[in-house]
Amino acid sequence: MISGLDEDGTVAKLDDFPGLPSDIVLRQVHWRDFSELDAEAILSAHELSRRAEMKHSGRRNGFTLGRIALRTLISSQLKIPAQEVVLEVAPTGQLFSPGSGLHVSLAHSGDTALAAVARRPIGVDLEEVRNKPDTLLDYILSDMEKDHVYKLDVPDSHRLFLCWTLKESVLKGLGVGLRSSPKKVTIEVDMPSRTAQLMDPNDHPWEARFCISEQWVSALAFKGD
Ligand SMILES: CC(C)(COP(=O)(O)OP(=O)(O)OC[C@H]1O[C@@H](n2cnc3c(N)ncnc32)[C@H](O)[C@@H]1OP(=O)(O)O)[C@@H](O)C(=O)NCCC(=O)NCCS
Repeated sequence: MISGLDEDGTVAKLDDFPGLPSDIVLRQVHWRDFSELDAEAILSAHELSRRAEMKHSGRRNGFTLGRIALRTLISSQLKIPAQEVVLEVAPTGQLFSPGSGLHVSLAHSGDTALAAVARRPIGVDLEEVRNKPDTLLDYILSDMEKDHVYKLDVPDSHRLFLCWTLKESVLKGLGVGLRSSPKKVTIEVDMPSRTAQLMDPNDHPWEARFCISEQWVSALAFKGD
């Protein structure tokens, strides 16, 4: 069994990151806890109309759940109604909350979303573990990283997802997403403490925490103090 696993078949806790700085807060939400009516009371008018245009139900649900997670999280931080939280999307796709002093990030996969806010740049990522060819590791790891990553005490089925979520969380924290190659982020992972040290494409250091369960891997990256 792996740390963070729920044995009863429910989604594991994906926001249980060890030793986070106190300015970083997270929220994990599942579709089963919300209804369409909740969405209408939480999303902005613009988000509701964007959502209505989304033909693919998976995309629509992920978008809705991500905004629910982020809006309710910011709402609890700023003590304002969730629908009044101001969220804007940069041309790169990165979300920001003007005037709040907060950096924000969200990820969604299947019926689950994870949102994070902090007073420093942050990025979160979340992936459901599924069959993927190991060759994808070649696509995201340098030769030096491969030596390190293949020695980690992590199930083979989860190795790619651990590396992927760590690297993507930094690229989301930077605001570039997959416009930049994950290979340009380097990782050094410590499994026992569930922490990682990363270097972004501009050679700036980031820290990360991660959760691994049977079905999921999640990662949160942030700039150090
Ligand atoms: C950011 C990105 C890596 C997320 O991909 P993903 O794994 O499918 O989705 P996740 O659940 O992890 O994250 C989705 C959220 O990331 C956020 N996001 C999107 N672009 C982002 C960026 N450049 N930086 C930070 N966050 C971003 C959004 O809030 C998005 O949620 P929403 O679409 O519901 O608003 C990807 O969308 C991306 O790189 N986008 C920019 C470049 C692009 O469009 N490339 C085409 C595909 S390669």
